Amino acid sequence: MNEKQHSIIERWERRWLGLASAMSLVFVILIAANLAFDSNNVVQLKQRANPAEILATDIFSNPGVIETSANKYRVAMVAQTFSFNPSEVRLPVDSEIEFYVTSKDVLHGFQIKSTNTNMEIIPGEVSYSSYTFKKPGEYWVICNEYCGIGHQNMLGKIVVLPKAVYAQEQANPVAEEASLGQSVFETNCASCHQASGAGLAGVFPPLKGNLAATSKLDGGKDYLVNTALFGLSGSIKVDGGSYNGVMPAWTQLSDEEISAVLNYAISGWGDDGVADITEADVAAARTNSYSSEDVHGLRQALGLE
Ligand code: CUA
Repeated sequence: MNEKQHSIIERWERRWLGLASAMSLVFVILIAANLAFDSNNVVQLKQRANPAEILATDIFSNPGVIETSANKYRVAMVAQTFSFNPSEVRLPVDSEIEFYVTSKDVLHGFQIKSTNTNMEIIPGEVSYSSYTFKKPGEYWVICNEYCGIGHQNMLGKIVVLPKAVYAQEQANPVAEEASLGQSVFETNCASCHQASGAGLAGVFPPLKGNLAATSKLDGGKDYLVNTALFGLSGSIKVDGGSYNGVMPAWTQLSDEEISAVLNYAISGWGDDGVADITEADVAAARTNSYSSEDVHGLRQALGLE
């Protein structure tokens, strides 16, 4: 190698070294700027324990929003196949929001669209991040970790309201029973039937519309109460789709919870069903002690496929 070739190689080496140093500098500046100006939201691990232990803590046994101090709110959410519980939260704008999220079953993601909040949700861990929404609007929460057959339907929603509107909503809470029904549904039913009640084609039948229609049949109410209490197994048809699964019994839920969740599924998604199931109806049905096959027989007796 002669002198001239050597100096050409050296010149290029210096150029590449310079470029690499400049790139490193740009990356460091970007990270520093993000930490300084974009609400320093680094995901933190808040707790690590047995998943059942975490789910039993106060914050996750009744997940949702609470105001922890002036203009500061805590949102607790449980990710589960294939929904978030609660599936929708309403929050005021320009407030510090602390998100505590855990998983009930498998690995999920928690990414709030149009923000830099993006956490991995691991069973047995509580992930934490805080964020301040600067603009009112609807923000989708998406699961960005593949978690099974319904992964693509796993969505949550954050509704950010102007402060005055939020305060007004707080002063007029929705009817207590409706919110109990929704919370029982999202905790126990949404993982199969989905928070929207739309079900999963071929796997879990839809409830939206279908329960409203059933509630209007003669004997439909009894059948719905028995299904919720004792489960259902055998092949059925709903809205033209065939299903052959096993719905478990829910006798561990209270009469109040069963009646609230059924009334929610009958009318909570804007359907015009007859949502008049009472605790007494559930208490009376409880003495039936049916099997899930017996309930299939009740379904056939109603003329339902
Ligand atoms: Cu949960 Cu994907």
